[in-house]
Amino acid sequence: MARSALLNVMVQAAFKAGKSLARDFGEVQNLQVSLKGPGDYVSQADRKAEKIISDELLKARPTYGFLGEESAKEIKGTDGAHRWIVDPLDGTTNFLHGIPHFAVSIALERNDEIVAGVIYNPATDELYTAERGGGAFLNDRRLRVAARKELTDCVITCGIPHLGRGNHGKFLVELRHVMGEVAGIRRTGSAALDLAYVAAGRFDGYWETGVSAWDIAAGIVLIREAGGWVSDFAGGSNMLETGSVIAANEYVHKALLDVTHRPVPGK
Ligand code: IPD
Ligand code: CA
Ligand code: CA
Repeated sequence: MARSALLNVMVQAAFKAGKSLARDFGEVQNLQVSLKGPGDYVSQADRKAEKIISDELLKARPTYGFLGEESAKEIKGTDGAHRWIVDPLDGTTNFLHGIPHFAVSIALERNDEIVAGVIYNPATDELYTAERGGGAFLNDRRLRVAARKELTDCVITCGIPHLGRGNHGKFLVELRHVMGEVAGIRRTGSAALDLAYVAAGRFDGYWETGVSAWDIAAGIVLIREAGGWVSDFAGGSNMLETGSVIAANEYVHKALLDVTHRPVPGK
């Protein structure tokens, strides 16, 4: 599998940040038993990882813009066409609780289109990469979305709103409809890995609303390059702007779009 110079830069940045996160994750596991817990430590680990990534990316391409979750504000690039979109630690709650399901997510946008994405889980050493037109890979293995066509055979992952976040009532209606049609539902706590797992054919589909651009940007190109369909909740392509996403193969995508839009029962 040949990687472009740009993708190599992204992979190196993800590895370097991943190494730092892996070290900090070890310490977080020790801090679980302390009364204060690892909260402050995790915030520091998160910011440190973003600094490592922005240093690497901006060193390699000083004219590109940079949007990162932990940076106070977006850096506008002088080149105007390119922007990095970065979540240094997706799955923070898992990380905080010592659950090894989290990832670094790095995407490259060119003229408003995501053209490359890297998602790396240092705890499992799984590296997901995709470049537009070049396919999607897990380490060196080419990825393809699952082929199942019927919702009754599908395992679907989703994001669940929680304390202080999202529209709980709306989600419960979506869940009620989806749970009655599928073989299983999961909530993993990392939107980036949810998309990567759909690209890898592990999950048959994924839906979530209320996400941010950095949660899903890299995953979008992975899904498309693995032959999947990804849209916003209206079926359009404004995932980054609306913060809503549905991803699956062509058939399951259509079914999920339909089922998640069914009205409130009894209305
Ligand atoms: C969160 C995770 C989670 C999703 C949330 C995100 P964070 O990102 O991706 O799965 O449900 O909407 O905010 O806070 O762990 O970077
Ligand atoms: Ca995130
Ligand atoms: Ca994050």
